[in-house]
Amino acid sequence: MQSRISTNLERLRASRLWNSIFRSGSGTSTLHRSMAIQQNVFLHILPTKVRRRMLNFDATWYLGTLTLGTFLVLVITGILLMFYYHPSVPQAYFDMKDLRYVVSSGLFLRNLHRWSAHAMVLLAFAHLFRVFYRGAYRPPREFNWVVGIILLLVTLLLSYTGYLLPWDQLAFWAITVGSNISSAVPFVGQKIHFLLLGGNLVNANALLRFYVLHCVILPLAAVMLIAVHFWRIRKDGGLYVQQSEPVAQCAEETAGPATTEETAEEVMAKP
Ligand code: HEM
Repeated sequence: MQSRISTNLERLRASRLWNSIFRSGSGTSTLHRSMAIQQNVFLHILPTKVRRRMLNFDATWYLGTLTLGTFLVLVITGILLMFYYHPSVPQAYFDMKDLRYVVSSGLFLRNLHRWSAHAMVLLAFAHLFRVFYRGAYRPPREFNWVVGIILLLVTLLLSYTGYLLPWDQLAFWAITVGSNISSAVPFVGQKIHFLLLGGNLVNANALLRFYVLHCVILPLAAVMLIAVHFWRIRKDGGLYVQQSEPVAQCAEETAGPATTEETAEEVMAKP
């Protein structure tokens, strides 16, 4: 059975269709594997080679990966919710009621979206602290640290803009309080308040503005920043190796003798 599957897979990888999409061709050598990564538009932001130790749980606690996982759940459940939701007053509130009582699995869908949002905020903070305590914010990773901070802000803004969408009492007053805080900014506060709500009050304009921010602008910004974040990990030489790590262990896991400061590109360039 297993050999039949691998024969069919081999046949597929040798086919003209496969080769028209994946230029690296078939093969299982290290060269083929790295070519498959480098020549794929989706995979090329990932490193072609990683230190084995960096895949262990204790290196990262998988916090960044889990944050990405919750983001993907949010994108999928968010798109499904959009099939039922109208960003207008008072329809938005009725749609929420329908999702709860009429749509099959609607309550589950809504709760999955809500809990994933809470989890993403929590995980992004936990990831930040983990990166900080490992000292992985230091050069050459300082730019990626800043990208991470912007990602955290985008995550918080996604939560904030999503808060208004149910258009219930909690949403209305939370956004009223939140937007009033923004108007306390010296000199430009009133302008920020007006820009945020599309007027001076929380009304249909504000709902539409928050909907566009929540469903289009902020998710696109997050996707772009996550791509830069991952690409940058690769360019900074892979995940951070702690200074205290024994050099011998590091050398054993990588292609050649490695100092703790060596980047993945440097290690790969060695014979
Ligand atoms: C949407 C939010 C985020 C996602 C999806 C994300 C994803 C990831 C992933 C998958 C990794 C590699 C594995 C790991 O370290 O767990 C990583 C590494 C990193 N992240 Fe994030 N991250 C996010 C937010 C942040 C934040 C808020 C910061 C800090 C301000 C940050 C700073 C970093 C840095 C500096 C690294 C490299 C760590 C190293 O070299 O060891 N990230 N991120």
